[in-house]
Amino acid sequence: MSVQPLTSVNHFLDLTDVPSEILHGMLQNAHKMKNSKFTPAQIFSGLSLAMVFDKRSTRTRMSFEVAMKQLGGHTIPMNMSEIQLTGAENIEDTAQVLSRYVDAVMIRMSDHDTLVQLAKHSSIPVINGLTDWSHPCQIMADIMTIEEKLGDIKGKTVAWFGDYNNVTRSFGHAAEIFGFDLVLGLPEELHSKVDISANQVTADASAAAKNADVIVTDTWESMGQEGKSLDMFRPYQVNSALMANAADHAIFMHCMPIHREDEVTNEVLASKQCVIYDEAENRLHAQKAILAWCLANAGVQIQQTFDFAA
Ligand code: CP
Ligand code: NVA
Repeated sequence: MSVQPLTSVNHFLDLTDVPSEILHGMLQNAHKMKNSKFTPAQIFSGLSLAMVFDKRSTRTRMSFEVAMKQLGGHTIPMNMSEIQLTGAENIEDTAQVLSRYVDAVMIRMSDHDTLVQLAKHSSIPVINGLTDWSHPCQIMADIMTIEEKLGDIKGKTVAWFGDYNNVTRSFGHAAEIFGFDLVLGLPEELHSKVDISANQVTADASAAAKNADVIVTDTWESMGQEGKSLDMFRPYQVNSALMANAADHAIFMHCMPIHREDEVTNEVLASKQCVIYDEAENRLHAQKAILAWCLANAGVQIQQTFDFAA
């Protein structure tokens, strides 16, 4: 499938903003690129990606950096505290100036509205590297992993446990686009927060896991929420008893970082069902495909430079 520019600027802020056929095409490209480290050759040659972080990161930072460099591009990583936006400079000036230097910006920050404002004033693509609202790059890698392990995601059941957060919300966006069922096993107290259309929201963890193809969880305290009480989450720990309710072929996923023996046990993490390292690796391949689409207006022509039939 061809990945063509849609609008004058291909921002990647939320899955709901990108046409479904583009997202499907990105995933096809990601699968194909996984088999060839340095191909398509040098398609990002001469292009620069600014990477701005207002929160910690291992996978997002590493995978974007390696994705750009394996395909010939450059990166400029900066902590948010190092740029003038943290001082007196406003978002519009920041966006306009960055647009004169680099070809795309990937940013991780708490406030999603600020990310949207940055994109609005940028003439280059802005990529959401995680906000408190969503984490779309993660979910592209997650869908790629599910496809790799279980085949077409359409009609599969993904069961999510624990907190309701940025990753859950992006899973919800993806469920509608990619046609899978999403079941949420959450503490009753969080049910009113659910603002995605899940197939089922239940406080009964065993019921949520029943016959699921994918069991997924995330930290109970996202970055910026450290120190909150975790007691209400304990019944939603992914352990062997919970996994036993899922389908025999079920896989376990987690975007990482993991708080071992909180949201998931070491036993599940050591089991054959656990695919977390493939999931983490797929950030790299998915990111290449996302970048290729975002950079289409900068001259990246992924279809013409790389024969995917190979
Ligand atoms: N999953 C994820 O985004 O990991 P990092 O916080 O390490 O980037
Ligand atoms: N929900 C987690 C995801 C980390 C990748 C957080 O926001 O900290």
